[in-house]
Amino acid sequence: MIKVAFYDTKPYDKPSFEHYGVMHGLQFRFLEAKLNEDTVALAEGCDAVCVFVNDSVTETVIDRLYEYGVKLIALRSAGYNNVDVRAAFGKIHVVHVPAYSPYAVAEHAMALLLTSVRRIHKAYNRTRDFNFSLSGLTGFDLHGKTVGVIGTGKIGRIFIDICRGFGMKVIAYDPYPVLDGGIQYVALDDLFAQSDVISLHCPLTDSTSHTINADAIAKMRKGVVIVNTSRGALIDAEALLSGIKARKIGAACLDVYEEEADIFFEDRSGHIMNDDLLARLISMPNVIVTSHQAFLTEEALSNIAETTVNNILSYFDNGGICENELCYRCGNIEHCKKTRKQKCF
Ligand code: NAI
Repeated sequence: MIKVAFYDTKPYDKPSFEHYGVMHGLQFRFLEAKLNEDTVALAEGCDAVCVFVNDSVTETVIDRLYEYGVKLIALRSAGYNNVDVRAAFGKIHVVHVPAYSPYAVAEHAMALLLTSVRRIHKAYNRTRDFNFSLSGLTGFDLHGKTVGVIGTGKIGRIFIDICRGFGMKVIAYDPYPVLDGGIQYVALDDLFAQSDVISLHCPLTDSTSHTINADAIAKMRKGVVIVNTSRGALIDAEALLSGIKARKIGAACLDVYEEEADIFFEDRSGHIMNDDLLARLISMPNVIVTSHQAFLTEEALSNIAETTVNNILSYFDNGGICENELCYRCGNIEHCKKTRKQKCF
């Protein structure tokens, strides 16, 4: 029986993973702890670890897992910036779930945007208090506005389709443009200068970290709305706060935050918030924060569990060949798998 240490377990993870795991004879060791250097020992005796976005899979953690004989790191997420794939190369194979419901994330981005520009979050609280005043609730039409989409992969393209449905003008930036979608690509600086709304849908890498920084904000239109459902560190949160305080940024819709790892996904009500920057952002009337919830639909949870279980089974039962392996060898971490017919190493 394949034993899997399942880190950072949340109540909504268990039903789908138990369902697919039992069906295929996997034994999950559900752990509430996040994977890091202090908790890695909990994986001893397991064949694989299953991790999520805020598990910290550093080189030290990987070396310890390797000592314990762990063969596979199975990410139950698309993003893998929290795994040192380079350090894992030659030791432990890494698989991920490239797509589970890009619709879930794109729809959440639009939900945040609509909530913000139509002040739904304010209206909801008011009417619950029988306050039916409309003062301060004036929004603006999305129709006719320009949205700049950074990253036109699976999620970005669905978000573009949704925006087109609203009659928005779409411009985009991506170093690897897709040619079949009729998308108007522009330079990043032009996107900053022309967009009424900017939505981030690129991965977090060394080159995308702090894509939205003070320089970028200086180039943007006054009143721009920034939506981030991708990864927190794409935005320099200090610069974002300054832009909001300077009334340059009209609104921010954040599903992710650079320092979310020890905060998001947990009930912190009744605790003192140690992160002053996040507290200040949340205190702003034009900032909406959800705690990395964009993926959280029934369809996505089911797809995540099914693909993760299949990834684990393909690795252990299919001679190690898994189409969702993140391969470091060729440096083309995700895309080499399209042609590869053998293990990464
Ligand atoms: P994808 O791999 O299909 O698309 C990413 C796109 O970003 C690609 O077209 C790529 O060429 C582009 N890109 C790469 N470097 C770039 C750069 N420097 N500037 C602009 N674009 C660049 O990925 P997918 O599925 O669309 O996911 C996008 C991101 O969404 C993931 O990396 C992940 O961080 C985030 N995500 C967030 C979730 C949430 O719950 N909030 C859930 C799932 C994903």
